[in-house]
Amino acid sequence: MLKRLSVAMVGAVLLSSALAGCGGGDDSSSGSGSDDKIVLGFSQVGAESGWRTANTKSIQDSAKAAGIELKFADAQGKQENQITAIRSFITQKVDVIAFSPVVTSGWDAVLKEAKDAGIPVILTDRSVDSQDTSLYVSFLGSDFVEEGKKAGQWLVDQYKGKTGTVNIVELQGTTGAAPAIDRQKGFADTIASDPNLKVVKSQTGDFTRAQGKTVMETFLQSTPKIDVLYAHNDDMGLGAIEAIEAAGKKPGTDIKIITVDAVKDGMTALSEGKINYIVECSPLLGPQLMDIVKQVKSGGTPEKRILTKETTFTQEQAKTELPNRQY
Ligand code: AHR
Repeated sequence: MLKRLSVAMVGAVLLSSALAGCGGGDDSSSGSGSDDKIVLGFSQVGAESGWRTANTKSIQDSAKAAGIELKFADAQGKQENQITAIRSFITQKVDVIAFSPVVTSGWDAVLKEAKDAGIPVILTDRSVDSQDTSLYVSFLGSDFVEEGKKAGQWLVDQYKGKTGTVNIVELQGTTGAAPAIDRQKGFADTIASDPNLKVVKSQTGDFTRAQGKTVMETFLQSTPKIDVLYAHNDDMGLGAIEAIEAAGKKPGTDIKIITVDAVKDGMTALSEGKINYIVECSPLLGPQLMDIVKQVKSGGTPEKRILTKETTFTQEQAKTELPNRQY
């Protein structure tokens, strides 16, 4: 009797696995995970900086920890790749789409397609300039204008009461990207309070170390007196440091350097005196993103704008913080 019962149980298990194989478990077509997991499609900008690498890791680790199935697509810095990835997520019927837009403009059509398909979209890190804000449910990320203001305020304080023109060169982030537009604006608005502070050169270095170095080389060749470098991220600042040293100058002393991000390499250079001030931009958005995804999936309404908490670092503060830096 016992033997007959166990044979029947094994048979039932085999039958149910065979049925699952006929449909329910195919998450490439339905988008729903094999065991009713939430499926999140995420389109990342690329791997242009240390910040981005840390951001990708945070999203991947947090999805795993939250039991969310992540479909991850790297756009390699191209908007067209992001649009293709979002369309593919719509076809796969994922539960939620999140993405960090390479640039601010040109998203309305694809966001409308997601909305029409009933798939909520969450913006992470960077915003879009769509007038119709119903095209996304929430935007999680930093206030980039505020970051630019913090960078500018440090400089204003450094030169308070001093005379003489201060020549500033600026390495902008990717042209058309929210952090490049906003960090430039916040900085320019703030230093306008001191007429001695002048941005004499401003050019994109695309948020990469290599381009930061190349553009700084041209700045050094064309501008005899550079007092300050403002780089929109650590990576471009670190590339520029190589160019400054190769030109026989001392970064942090001959040329004051302000950057944004506070990744480990940037904090190391700050603690060594090669950078003077860093405005933090946190890449650790993963845990908050997964919370929003769960909230949206269970019918909740997340806050439309969720700001990341951030600070600033002087050289002394960097020495204390460096051993605890995760990224
Ligand atoms: O959008 C965030 C910015 O993108 C980071 O400051 C920069 O390092 C990255 O490439």
